[in-house]
Amino acid sequence: MPFNLSRRGFIGSAAALSAVPAMARAASDPAAAPVPINPLVKQRADAQVFRHDDGYYYLTGSVPEYDRLVLRRSKTIAGLSTAKEAVLWRHEASGPRSGYIWAPELHQIDGKYYMYFAAGPAGGGDDVFRIRTYAIVCDGPDPMSGKWSVAGELQTPWDSFNLDSTSFVHKGVRYFAWAQREPGIETNSNLYIAKLEAPLKLGEKVTRLTVPTLDWEVRGYKVAEAPAVLHRNGRLFMTYSASATDARYCLGLLTADENADLLDAKSWTKSPQPVFVSNEQTSVYGPGHNSFTVDEQGRDILVYHGRDYKEIQGDPLLNPDRHTRVQRLYYTADGTPDFGVPVGNGPMPERFVSAASPQSLLAHDGLQLLGGNPALAQTQFRQLPGRAGKQSVMLSPILIPDHYLVAKKDGSVTLERDSKSADFALRSQFVRLQDKGSDLLRFAAISAPGKALGLADGQIRLVGSRDTTAYWRAD
Ligand code: AHR
Repeated sequence: MPFNLSRRGFIGSAAALSAVPAMARAASDPAAAPVPINPLVKQRADAQVFRHDDGYYYLTGSVPEYDRLVLRRSKTIAGLSTAKEAVLWRHEASGPRSGYIWAPELHQIDGKYYMYFAAGPAGGGDDVFRIRTYAIVCDGPDPMSGKWSVAGELQTPWDSFNLDSTSFVHKGVRYFAWAQREPGIETNSNLYIAKLEAPLKLGEKVTRLTVPTLDWEVRGYKVAEAPAVLHRNGRLFMTYSASATDARYCLGLLTADENADLLDAKSWTKSPQPVFVSNEQTSVYGPGHNSFTVDEQGRDILVYHGRDYKEIQGDPLLNPDRHTRVQRLYYTADGTPDFGVPVGNGPMPERFVSAASPQSLLAHDGLQLLGGNPALAQTQFRQLPGRAGKQSVMLSPILIPDHYLVAKKDGSVTLERDSKSADFALRSQFVRLQDKGSDLLRFAAISAPGKALGLADGQIRLVGSRDTTAYWRAD
């Protein structure tokens, strides 16, 4: 809502301090890549996003029609939202690959591009779930423009329902992990790992890694699927998805030491609780089928799908609104991934670490702002375009997305809903300032010239805009 800003001169002077505009930043500087906005890509489930050594991000995923394999490419993660989407291959008119096409992944193996996917026959009835794993292969160096053809079917130990394959290289050995129904085990799917001897040939030793048995793994269906692997901090972390694909869908985690025998099931420890679940406060339901990538600054990014509503009419599998989402992946002090909560729709949030008190972040506990290091979700704030010109921004905590930071006349800073008043419209406006060549940020309060958001004596309040307590580092 426009308002006659009586401190327009303030903005003019603030702008002279190289304000960092809210949303658009030159992509040439990794630290200034456009901020992704969730959902990153609507109606693309099971998304695989990876940053290739050609400098591009590639995205593929299941389409609602389950009838084709698609691929996008962009120089930035945010650019994937609007990137041109190539159709690499469509399901066939008849036969074993004429029905559902699920969960593709693109991999470059021995210099050639393969896209693995799960497929079943058309024709209705249970036969449509005669799902098996196949790969198409590209005839040239550019997966976006090359000619793709069926390379064949992955040979697995049993002629049974198998899907959601992924591949990774560890210590020079290429592994393959996938989900499969094993005869004699009454589940929809379990997780397996083997070495990959050739693009469609598994090594002799196949290891069952986990069977869904815990209560959060068997809600609706007994499912362990969609493995994804991250190698960090001396360990391999394998996420997987569990339960029915509605709001009960969630991520589990297996962890192995990087020097362990990955084909020994005992090397992998299962987290007893899910690590990523639906969240009512941020309105993301059924988060799962994830992949991992890094952002333009090399920081870990969790990619996953989720709906922004809970109740589904009909079969969740036929609901199109599992959108691709991205968020930063952080770590606890011992190097374990901290998945936090699915952050919700809107610009991807950040954390702000006090430069004066590096153990403390901008945080909140309910409606109370604080400086500290509570649960991750309490430290994540979304920066939104402001209402006092293009230099202005607003800050909102992801857990109460209808509340904003407000700079009060007495120098306190509160969390308030938009009261639609001129006072709110003025006091909720900040300018994000960054001195040239520095990673230090300040949030100057437009309503209080010379004042900025600070952490002083454990309190979040307005401080002198050049006070050491006014400086933050975005993380
Ligand atoms: O999205 C289609 C299938 O549903 C995926 O292969 C699986 O991960 C999910 O449960």
